[in-house]
Amino acid sequence: MCGIVGYTGRNACVDVLVDGLRRLEYRGYDSAGIAVLTGGDIAIRKSQGKIARLIDRIAREPVSGTCGIGHTRWATHGRPSDENAHPHRAGRVAVIHNGIVENHRTLKDRLLSKGRTFCSETDTEVISHLLDECVGAGMPLEEAVRRTVAELRGSYAFLAVTDREPETVVGARLNCPMVVGLGQGEHFLASDITAFLAHTRDVLFLEDGEMVVATPDAIRITDFHGQPRARKPQQIDWSPVMAEKGGYRHFMLKEIHEQPRAILDTLAGRMLPEEGEVFFETLPLSADHLASVRKVTLVACGTSWHAALVGKFMIEGLARVPVEVDLGSEYRYRDPVVEEGTLCVSISQSGETADTLAGMREAKSKGATTVSICNVVASTIARESDGVIYTHAGPEIGVASTKAFTTQLVALYLMALHLAQARKVLSPREISMHLIELSDLARKIEEYAKREDEIAAVAKKYKDVRDFLYLGRGISYPIALEGALKLKEISYIHAEGYPAGEMKHGPIALIDERMPVLVLCARGESYEKTFSNLEEAHARGGRVIAVGTEGDDLLAGKAEDVLYLPSCGRFVRPILEVVPLQLLAYHMAVLKGTDVDQPRNLAKSVTVE
Ligand code: M6R
Repeated sequence: MCGIVGYTGRNACVDVLVDGLRRLEYRGYDSAGIAVLTGGDIAIRKSQGKIARLIDRIAREPVSGTCGIGHTRWATHGRPSDENAHPHRAGRVAVIHNGIVENHRTLKDRLLSKGRTFCSETDTEVISHLLDECVGAGMPLEEAVRRTVAELRGSYAFLAVTDREPETVVGARLNCPMVVGLGQGEHFLASDITAFLAHTRDVLFLEDGEMVVATPDAIRITDFHGQPRARKPQQIDWSPVMAEKGGYRHFMLKEIHEQPRAILDTLAGRMLPEEGEVFFETLPLSADHLASVRKVTLVACGTSWHAALVGKFMIEGLARVPVEVDLGSEYRYRDPVVEEGTLCVSISQSGETADTLAGMREAKSKGATTVSICNVVASTIARESDGVIYTHAGPEIGVASTKAFTTQLVALYLMALHLAQARKVLSPREISMHLIELSDLARKIEEYAKREDEIAAVAKKYKDVRDFLYLGRGISYPIALEGALKLKEISYIHAEGYPAGEMKHGPIALIDERMPVLVLCARGESYEKTFSNLEEAHARGGRVIAVGTEGDDLLAGKAEDVLYLPSCGRFVRPILEVVPLQLLAYHMAVLKGTDVDQPRNLAKSVTVE
């Protein structure tokens, strides 16, 4: 998730662009840059690091003009560096991009074979070269963009300028946001309206598959074939802070709703569902190496540890390799036995968690091959591991982890299939069935999240309770832990996650009419047994909230409230089940008036022991 901004008008553009980038910094902050059309040329200033460093750079090497583009980056392809910072220039064109060009390798190979040279490791640079090929052949920028989008696969919102059209910015959008701001003799383009709210509140939202051509006096929106698209301007009454959160009240809620997009980005360019094939370009382990793995050790902390617990079911169930799961803080000190053939997978959103990093170093020092599943590109854990699988969830600002968790689960699912493929445990046909299921997950979550009101109503009923119990079995047990953790950390209500089958060994004594018990009871391999546990809680007067499968009327007879999920396969189920639990914790916290995004005593990234 990067931030893009563009301006064309009669005023000096540099301050407008830099101010827009400052407001978009929440979308990414590992490098920033601008391209300004000036004196018949394109002047580029860019720098690794936060916007402040770009501002220093511009102060040292000033530039001026009335038309330009700017970018703040959240690295996906290529580490944070000056070279990988946007804009990317090829010949007479400069480009900024948010998203992932899935087929960039194929396109790059073709461009290389034509003698084009690349200066960065990014996927974006192929866009600038493709555009420059067309512009160099005399095509207007608009036509060049139209030709180029026909070649791109993946997701993008990009803006392009050329020195041949010094007042024009052209943009295109597919699966990434882009909005146009309408001024008097000036126009703005950006990832979101925060970037230009200080200048105008009149906007046009671009839709997927649309392009925009902006000059100081005109805006033209078309589809990718050049057919005009009519769009009515809208007036925005959001405050700048609301705009940064995309209109959501909190980053956490925004991030919950971003999960479908984030999951699609985790999957992008890594699978061929029809062929039943999974591949990771950033995992330099051969199929033979993967086939020789005898044991997998998963190391993580907090929510990422819950992902590891689910990962154990996925890897053992699909690739048939034994898996051990450890907390970073425990693993690093217990002098673990690391046998030959051990693959240590550390899981971390930030890639900087001290205990997880120490756990990974411990495994590495004892001879394990290390792989990490990280969200932050080029973070310490990602850099130090032998291979990395990025989740591509985009920046997670809310302290309570949501989209980082679901994308970790998706990455683990893919990794389990990748291992199964290398070990020839599953046939391409079987892998294909899993991939088809995964392909439909984002849609299911998106549909489900529309029912947020039902969950908010349940939250209202239980907001004053002192304790909460979450029960789940098998692959759903870690989701019970995660639901309880979410509730604890943002609403400060005491909550415990428990394996449903363990109830009778102690916790059942806690149950009375004041104790809400949330039971993960979707249809699946342990449905009957979990249903019995639910009945036990109900029989003891517990207030049961069930999370079940659509159409399961039996649940309604036993539970006070039922949250129904669409039916799905075993390994996708935990990824769906966590969504109502995230929303429940969120709404309980809002009703209690806590600081949802920055709960007391917590930090987003725990870089100390
Ligand atoms: O960045 P990491 O994934 O390594 O962070 C691990 C935990 O600190 C983190 O998941 C924490 O538990 C979250 N606040 C949970 O919402």
